[in-house]
Amino acid sequence: MPRIPREKIDEVQAAADIVEVASDYVGRLKKSGSRYMALCPFHEEDTPSFSLSPEKNLYYCFGCQAGGSIFTLVQEMEGIPFPKAVEQLADRFGVDLPQGSGGGPERSKREPLHHALRFAARFFYHQLTTTEEGERALRYLTEERGLTEKTIKTFGLGYAPGHWDALTNAAESEQIDPETLEEAGLAIARKGESSGYYDRYRGRVVFPIFSRVGRVLGFAGRAFEDAEGPAIGGDFDPPKYINSPETPVYHKKDVLYGLHQAKNALRDDEEALLVEGYTDVIALHQAGLEHAVATCGTALTAEQAKMLGRYAERVTLLYDADEAGTRATLRGMDRVLEAGLGAYAARLPEGRDPDDFVREEGADRFRYFLRKNRQGVAAFRRTQAERDGAFDTPEDRTRTMRAVAESLALVPDEMARENQVRAASDALGMYENLLRNAVEEARSESRHKKRRRQRHAPRPEAPEDGNASNEERAEQREEASAPLPQERNLLRLLLEHGRPMVELILGHMALTEFTDGPARKLAGHFLEMYREGEVAPRRVLEGDFGPELQQLAAAVLTDEHEPSERWRDRDIDVPRLNQEAREAAASSMRLLKLRRVDAELEKAKAAQFQQAPNEETEREAQQRVMRLQQLRQQIQRGAFFDWDGEAAAA
Ligand code: UTP
Ligand code: MN
Repeated sequence: MPRIPREKIDEVQAAADIVEVASDYVGRLKKSGSRYMALCPFHEEDTPSFSLSPEKNLYYCFGCQAGGSIFTLVQEMEGIPFPKAVEQLADRFGVDLPQGSGGGPERSKREPLHHALRFAARFFYHQLTTTEEGERALRYLTEERGLTEKTIKTFGLGYAPGHWDALTNAAESEQIDPETLEEAGLAIARKGESSGYYDRYRGRVVFPIFSRVGRVLGFAGRAFEDAEGPAIGGDFDPPKYINSPETPVYHKKDVLYGLHQAKNALRDDEEALLVEGYTDVIALHQAGLEHAVATCGTALTAEQAKMLGRYAERVTLLYDADEAGTRATLRGMDRVLEAGLGAYAARLPEGRDPDDFVREEGADRFRYFLRKNRQGVAAFRRTQAERDGAFDTPEDRTRTMRAVAESLALVPDEMARENQVRAASDALGMYENLLRNAVEEARSESRHKKRRRQRHAPRPEAPEDGNASNEERAEQREEASAPLPQERNLLRLLLEHGRPMVELILGHMALTEFTDGPARKLAGHFLEMYREGEVAPRRVLEGDFGPELQQLAAAVLTDEHEPSERWRDRDIDVPRLNQEAREAAASSMRLLKLRRVDAELEKAKAAQFQQAPNEETEREAQQRVMRLQQLRQQIQRGAFFDWDGEAAAA
């Protein structure tokens, strides 16, 4: 396949917005000066060190050194090759690519499944909104469940026709084979004598389950009934819901229903509302409570809680008021606390779910209800115990208090834990110190358990080259060859200005003056590109010269100290460099050269005094020191550098 033309790639780069793209992956972004900070998607961390530069469309993590362009971000996060990433961003930001470019032979293995799922979602939506058979389902959604057309569209609801092979047939005519449908959880292979496949969802309203970036991962199909009875063609004695199986693209434990639609609201609100069902999320969203999400028929997992943490600071759980609901609430609150978020829960009136509550009472009363009834983990447990008559005897109370202590022990942050202890001791009517001790006890108990588990767990596979971890190896490498601050400035200038800066800097510096390692390599690549005729700094960011230089480039472009800050607004990309850029380069070169000379001087002086008392060698050493001192003065005066930009002899 033909390559995507350079100009097109540049066009996409100019049109795309890395902040928008990154926020799909990292959730909460905090503005800080001219850049944005977030929790890094490439490594575990509690404080944001992932930095985004919207002007340059690049990212860099101060924690793990991951960095690159908007394209590499998408490549890494989606696990797709470069042309695919360009394609995806082009699609998203409305740049038309020439036919047949991109893709490439090594299309992602999951891509066909995504394609099939996207097709199915469109097919079901079309069935619901435009066909005669879908009309009953549509009436059910609008009349019985009170959903608007807009909501149906927002959530992509659909109707799966009541035949055995409606989807399978439609897909076939689009060259989507039944094996792919099966792998995507949309079709089921016939058993026994007969061969072939049949649709998993039949005669049902379907809820597409989206990833947080809006890709379809699977479906839930709900049976429905109206005055005419159950929908045609459904199962005999149908289960209320048919859920998607786990597939290569759908992992229940990682997915929250409605997160895609809730994202913006969550960013404003910083509070998530966790409910049980699809219909609850949708009804709340329609009522203006757009920060609702649901787990897909499972208990809240640690992964889901962590994911919520990228968007929200607090989670309020709103499950059914029955025993199963209460148990799920308590377990869910533990996962939320463990993820470092505030955990709250409210108990709906018996027999009501958020869906009918908000429809009957309206959004304002729903909000009011939440404000009045939301409780932290201690108060919730106590209320629950009191309701069950299990907070009367001292033993009962002890049990509840221990349970609360165990929950609070999960809070990872010390200060947050301390504040929780204070609030909880109030709620339980218990001495703070007593509870604090109980929490500490629970913590050391769980640490012991963890250690025991680790000791018995199978050893992780030994890394390829002995025992040094990747991190340790990276550290060792860094010590030996980390670029100096002046070099970082120079590399940054090269990356920002390209050709004219290559002439200026590499006309006045030998490659050997750069620290051996990534700095010298990167400078070398600039020289090479220059000789080849096209200096394209973006190639570095796109990883053409390997991940190490890519990271270095992203890092220096993100450096806290920005020597080029002042000329950002000017036309820095024109081949003529302005005076400030030259000055920045000159001063970095001067400092770097001084540093090198000083190191030489130090060595020469040391040699001078170590020499055996032999007149000849002594004089030689002396002369060397003098020459270096002269050179030093020249450098200091800037004599190596001539201001008209013509190559000057150093
Ligand atoms: P509900 O029974 O409340 O579903 O189950 P609903 O669609 O909201 O129905 P009504 O209108 O209140 O009667 C809540 C959640 O439990 C899971 C689904 O995730 C559903 O959204 N569930 C329920 C299943 O997975 N399978 C089932 O058979 C029932
Ligand atoms: Mn319900």
